[in-house]
This record gives sequence, structure tokens and C-alpha cells, in this order.
Amino acid sequence: MAFKFDVVIVGSGLAGLRAAIEMADQGKVALISKVYPTRSHSGAAQGGVAAALGNEEEDSWEWHMYDTVKGGDYLTDQDVAEILAQDAPRAVYELEHMGVPFNRTARGKIAQRAFGGHTSHFGKHSVKRACYASDHTGRVILDTLYAQAVQQGVKVFPEFQMLDLVLENKKLAGLVAYELATGAVHFFQSRVVLLATGGFGKIFKTTSNCFANTGDGVYFAYRRGVPLEDMEFVQFHPTGIYGLGVLISEAARGEGGILKNSTGERFMAKYAPTIKDLAPRDMVARAILEEIKQGRGINGKDYVHLDLTHLGADVLADKLNEITSFAKIYLGVDAAKQPIPVHPTCHYMMGGIPVNVDGQVLDKNHQVIPGLFAAGECSCLSVHGANRLGCNSLLDLVIFGRRSGMQIKRDMAELPWNDPGAGPGKAMEAKIQELKDRRKGEKAGELRQELQTTMMRHCASFRNAEELSQALSTIESLQERYRQVTIDNKSPRFNSDLLEALELECLLSLSEAVVVSAKAREESRGAHYREDFPDRDDDNFLQHTLVQMTQQGPRVFYKPVTITRFEPKPRTY
Ligand code: FUM
Repeated sequence: MAFKFDVVIVGSGLAGLRAAIEMADQGKVALISKVYPTRSHSGAAQGGVAAALGNEEEDSWEWHMYDTVKGGDYLTDQDVAEILAQDAPRAVYELEHMGVPFNRTARGKIAQRAFGGHTSHFGKHSVKRACYASDHTGRVILDTLYAQAVQQGVKVFPEFQMLDLVLENKKLAGLVAYELATGAVHFFQSRVVLLATGGFGKIFKTTSNCFANTGDGVYFAYRRGVPLEDMEFVQFHPTGIYGLGVLISEAARGEGGILKNSTGERFMAKYAPTIKDLAPRDMVARAILEEIKQGRGINGKDYVHLDLTHLGADVLADKLNEITSFAKIYLGVDAAKQPIPVHPTCHYMMGGIPVNVDGQVLDKNHQVIPGLFAAGECSCLSVHGANRLGCNSLLDLVIFGRRSGMQIKRDMAELPWNDPGAGPGKAMEAKIQELKDRRKGEKAGELRQELQTTMMRHCASFRNAEELSQALSTIESLQERYRQVTIDNKSPRFNSDLLEALELECLLSLSEAVVVSAKAREESRGAHYREDFPDRDDDNFLQHTLVQMTQQGPRVFYKPVTITRFEPKPRTY
């Protein structure tokens, strides 16, 4: 079946929803989502959304901007960080007015708490900047924005999975999607496509990401010739539940939680003497792994303790309810009485589809591709640089989701309808049929596990040339084996076997882009740590990586970082 909409948004997390709300009154807007919209991964965000409201203590947007730039190890584009920090209070009050139930101070203002890397007076002390709703902030914002989008008449297509972007020579015609309930392949003709498909943490074995985070939008843009930016910068959140990777919010440390090693030492005091456990994530994750490497993991194992026992049952119930329940459910740990075993977990991709501050996707010459937009984790602005600060993600989603929506409204009248005929849909139907007909070959699940283990072993928090080469050769062989992948389930209805096989193509290609970019960056910066190049090298690498798919394999090139206010300095906390 063919649909015709002015705008098709892919992904119903906060970026997609906020953009949809902005332009719901302009033309026909469709929102497709591979999961039921309120199951989007934004709903898993726990700790808060950053804004210098100053409700609990003195704060300023300039300090917020500085923290964002320094947190990103000076790879952050500073013009973008300025927009983020300056617009944050407006964005949070807008959410409040839409109905988001934030926690309150005793005087009725939006409550705020401390978070990693957020400081006052340009790095002097930690500051309470995260606006929160207990530890399910993403959940309540997602529900609020979804209700708004539905109310404003956005046409939602739940459980429709994107299969391809129809883009040839910078001419956008729409996209192809697969309807999970029926197995039908649909062509959505449109003048605008906004990709808001989130991250691709599923390239790693241990991750806080949900199953849907396979980077579909990023991959389809890449396959259609869009270069990808800063793919080597992968954030490992310090506190995933040991053995599972499920997130234990940084809010736990924001409320006073302490990381301890096997000797009971508060080890972050050694690594970040000023703000200790509230250092940025890249530093805390590496410190945990260093303690484990030095033999100070708990009981000689590969985890440390997150101690919340001194916070008291009331604080845990009021402000950290979800994570304490996770500790109970998954580990049988009562966080009021026992420390929680934690280990770093892949959490967030700083890299993605290059966009300008209005969400317009940029080609290899840094020129706008008419009609193609991206927002949220799938995009790279680059506002997070080499390491995102906690609570800047929800903020990025609502600020730049809205800006994308505003730009789409401005552009709409000028954009053409391109018509590629029936070709794109037919090609995807043929691909699916071929996959179903294949008799001999390996299962997608087996290949995916091998990929995730490889990425974990060779391309996680510590990297070096030899390990990265090893990762690359394994990925190349997995790509070869993928050509013969088979599925058992041939049904047209809710065929997750088929979808997993299709998603694996995205995971393989994005893993390759991450490894190739990481190999080329011979320095350590933010979340990218090279054991063979342990120092930051501003002379050679104060620039953004771009990686492009070519017939000969991924090609790496660079573009400059925008520096406006803060000159790069050594990064200490
Ligand atoms: O730790 C957290 O609650 C995560 C927040 C974020 O990634 O921004």
C-alpha cells in the first residue's frame, strides 16, 4: 500500500514527538514507530533533564554551557552548546505547562538535584541542575508528549518498522516501512522525512538500551550516502546492574550515593578530587574498570559497589523508587540495607547523522539535503562532543526536536514531491522473500551475539590498534556470513525472527563505522580511550570524524570543531 504525507517522522521518542507537536497544524504529519509509541526508549530515561533554573542554589546558563563543553572534552560545537544551555529553562517550563509532573521543592518550585559533571562557577562545585520526576523522568515526559501529539491530530502508525530511506542523488521521496501485524510492506511518499530513531547500543553485549535500539535510521541514512559523524564516541554509563547492564541512574550519586571498591574505599576521591562520584561518566566508568583491573573489584570479581544505605528509606522511596525496585527485582538487593553491585554499561551514542542546529541533515560537503531531517540520539549536532553529560539528552531531544519541527514548517512550501514509482517497495518485498526462501545458513541471533561480544571485548571503554583490527576483521567475516543468514519463522504476522535478521544488517554496518572511526582517532578524548595513545592530541584531532560508506569500504575524513567561548584546557575535576 502507498501512503502520502507531507511529513513522515520515524521514531516516537521525545525528539520525534516534540517535532510532531510543533508542526501538527501544518500539512499531513505521520509518525511511524517500530514499537508502541509509549514503549520508546526515551521512557527509560531516569535521572532528569538539565536546566539552570537555580531553584535549589545559584546557577547560570553560562556555567551549564561551560560544563557541556568541558564534559565533551572540547569536541562539543560551542555554538550548539550555547543554544542548549540558554534555551533549557524555557524548554523545562514548557514541559511543566504541558503537564509533566516534576518533583517540587518545599516552596513549590521544580525540584533539582546534582548530576555528573554539572558544576557552578565554572567547575568549582557540583550544582543541582537536573529537574526530575523521581527516577522516571523520561517516562512521564514521554507520556505527556504522546498525549499532546495525539490530541493535535498526528497520525500514528504503531509497530511499523522502517526498511529503507528513499533518497537518490539528494532527492528525497519518502521511505519504505514494514507493518509488523500484517507483514505488509508500505511506501510512504513524503516531502520531508525526520529520522528520530534513537541510538544503537545493541551493538554491545552489555547495554542499558532496549531491544529496539538497533540504529535503523542511522544505518539507512549511511547506506544512502550520508556520512556519519563522531561514531567512535560511545558512552558507557558507570552504573549498570552487574551482569545485566540495566541502568541504575546517576541520580543515585546525585542524591549522595557513593562508589566503593573491595576495601570499602571511596575510590572516586583519587580520580576526581573536587567532585568525586559526580565526575563525568567517561571518567567514572574508566575509574571503575581501573579499580577492577587493579584487583579491587568486590570479592575479586568485575564489579564495584554503589552504596545508598546512608540515604535513608524515605529518600529512596521518594526519589529513587524505580532503581531500588530494579535492585530488588534483578539482584535481590535491598538498597536501603545493602550496596548495589554495578559495572559500566553501554548507554549512549554521541555520534550519528550530522545535522545543523535546525535538524537539517548534512551531506559529505556539509550541505543540506533538502527534506531530510534528524533529531535526538540518532543525530550528531555535535552538542555532546566526546562525552555527553547526564540529563543533557532529554534536553537535547526537546530543544532540537522542536527546532526541527520549526524548520520543517519554514521549509515545507518549498519542498517538492518526488515520485520514485513502485520500485522501492518492490525491492524490499523481494529482499524479504529471498530471506524467507533461504534454506541453509546461520541464524541472525548467533551472529548478533558474536558481534556484541566482539564489540564488548575489543571496542568498549579501553581500545588499542591491535584490538580494533581484531574487531574489524571479525565484523568483516560476520558481514560475509550474514549474506547467508536464515530465519525459521516464515509467518507474515509479528515475525520478530525476520525483523531481527533485518536489524542485524544495521548493527553490523554501524559497528564497522564505530571501529573504523575509533581506529583512525589516534588520541584519547572523552569516551574514546586509546591505550596506545593515552593523551588528548588537539594539534591533530581537535576535529569531528566523518565516515562515509563507499564501494571500497568506509572512508574517514574530518571537519573542524566550532569554538566560540572556551579554549580547550586540560580536563580535571
Ligand atoms: O543516569 C541517568 O539517569 C541517565 C541520564 C541520562 O543519560 O541523561
